[in-house]
Amino acid sequence: MSLDQPEDLESAKDDIERLAEAEIRLAHFQAEQIRYATTYFGYPEVPVNNDLSTLGVSGLARLHLNNAGDPWVHGSAQMHTKEFEREALAFVADLYGIADDYWGYTTSGGTEGNLYGMYMAREYFGAKGEPPLFIYSASSHYSIPKNARLLQLSTRTIECDLAGEMNYNALKETLKETEATWPERPGLAISLNIGTTMTGAIDQVIRINDVLSEIDWPQEKVLIHADAALLGLIYPFIEGNPNLFENGVNSIAVSGHKFAGTIHPCGIFLTKKSLHGQAFGDHWIPYVGTEDTTISGSRNGFLALNLWYVLRKKGRHGLAREAKTCIENAEYLTKQLNEMNYPEVSMAPNQNIVVFQKPSDAMINKYQLPAEGGIAHVVVMQHITRSRIDGFCRNLRESLEQAD
Ligand SMILES: Cc1ncc(COP(=O)(O)O)c(C=O)c1O
Repeated sequence: MSLDQPEDLESAKDDIERLAEAEIRLAHFQAEQIRYATTYFGYPEVPVNNDLSTLGVSGLARLHLNNAGDPWVHGSAQMHTKEFEREALAFVADLYGIADDYWGYTTSGGTEGNLYGMYMAREYFGAKGEPPLFIYSASSHYSIPKNARLLQLSTRTIECDLAGEMNYNALKETLKETEATWPERPGLAISLNIGTTMTGAIDQVIRINDVLSEIDWPQEKVLIHADAALLGLIYPFIEGNPNLFENGVNSIAVSGHKFAGTIHPCGIFLTKKSLHGQAFGDHWIPYVGTEDTTISGSRNGFLALNLWYVLRKKGRHGLAREAKTCIENAEYLTKQLNEMNYPEVSMAPNQNIVVFQKPSDAMINKYQLPAEGGIAHVVVMQHITRSRIDGFCRNLRESLEQAD
């Protein structure tokens, strides 16, 4: 383009102004987001980190890295991060004691991991000509009933206790009723909460197994999927927690942007390779030269790289240390709230969510707290230090005094 013509000069000036306006708007937006990050207390993410300075907006992040298809089958294109993806999966498989028999992939988040677990159960029982009955507790994440609708599964919802844990008597009653109307007994796909969203409650896989054996439900007619979006990388480090896969769990979904701490949403789905093979047949796609074993086709290879990087950087010891600190800080917050006689404070053992009576709207807005049914919570993540907890409690006390 020549700049000699007056109209070209005019349009060049427009371009410069448009660019400047866009940059100014982004700068304002960034400033606002940085401010929000300082009081990000309600959701299970760490709002800021510097991973991208290593993974690089001008380096790896500028490349089109697409992990289309199965992590173990590279495909025709070579721009992907499947070797890193497999190492991240191997790390988590090892944590869960299934390093000798596992399959999985990097998902877009916990929701997709749950969808895959439920999809696999449907295909597994479907292949035997028995559409399964899907069982989940009332305090399950909203992705669970949504996924059940997407997959058109028949469902039963099980009541919970006040803390959000599945009521095992209610489970037993539901299964007995099912048997009365469905004497041949359907395959069961059971969703197990390893940390409910609002209270962090854990459904006990051993208690579920007890119920199933009390009513003689055949083992081969049960698949259990664990929704461990937040606690998936805390649970294995807590002494005394039963190994999930040794106790009948068949698959697990974990979010990568929650406890692991990737800056962008992602997740991990893991199952036993042997089971996966039984549920799904051949999915070879000549066009991409790989197996279409995942839900989306193209998958973001950069996310797998980020996940690999955080797991590599922290390792088992780093994650265990962070888990311990977050749980101790959650106990500290609980203690502070109890000392000020704040109402309805509770914290399920060995996790990092503190629940309390819904505070003022100003507190909810400032600290971005989720609230439902008259309660709110803080998820004590790695960035919520004791001094930030002190500041939060000071603000809460002031808001109570103002309300008096
Ligand atoms: C228990 C539970 N399951 C699933 C999800 C969904 O995870 P994601 O937001 O990664 O899709 C969440 C998110 O908060 C959750 O708490």
